[in-house]
Amino acid sequence: MLNGLVHAHSGLRWVVLLLLISATFKALMKWRSNAPYTEGDRKLNLFTMIFMHVQLLLGLTLFFMSERVDFSQMGKAAFRFFTVEHSVMMLLAIALVTIGYSKSKKAKEDAQKFRSVFIYYLLALILILVAIPWPFRGFGTQWF
Ligand code: HEM
Repeated sequence: MLNGLVHAHSGLRWVVLLLLISATFKALMKWRSNAPYTEGDRKLNLFTMIFMHVQLLLGLTLFFMSERVDFSQMGKAAFRFFTVEHSVMMLLAIALVTIGYSKSKKAKEDAQKFRSVFIYYLLALILILVAIPWPFRGFGTQWF
């Protein structure tokens, strides 16, 4: 079961990245061209947030099941990475996307909606790219 969860969490990163990159890029383009905020924009931003929350649920489950999470082994880089660095940075990124989406909902003008999505989703994207345990980082992880 743990193996299945790790694979689901690992594969979903690509869905999250694709959605986040599309939503951020689209928000920038439409903000700069003063385009109207459509139902399609709202759905893209919403689905991005939903998939981030699915990653959060999987991540939290792994946090309590994984052998890579161990507070007594903080001296070792790999344990420190999964126990603190990865988990905290991802929690922050998920919070940023949630705040960005909620600000876009509350904003009155379309340009403000795109601006909130662009700024908060971009910050989240940077954090996620830094916090993903890419295979070349030497933590024994996979591409999928
Ligand atoms: C957008 C959010 C997230 C992304 C894209 C992401 C991505 C990943 C990836 C790619 C792996 C490596 C899987 C492999 O072994 O191939 C991983 C592992 C892990 N993640 Fe996340 N993660 C996210 C959020 C979280 C959160 C919020 C937590 C905990 C609070 C978390 C906890 C873990 C743990 C404990 C592992 C190690 C699992 C194991 O190998 O036993 N993740 N994550």
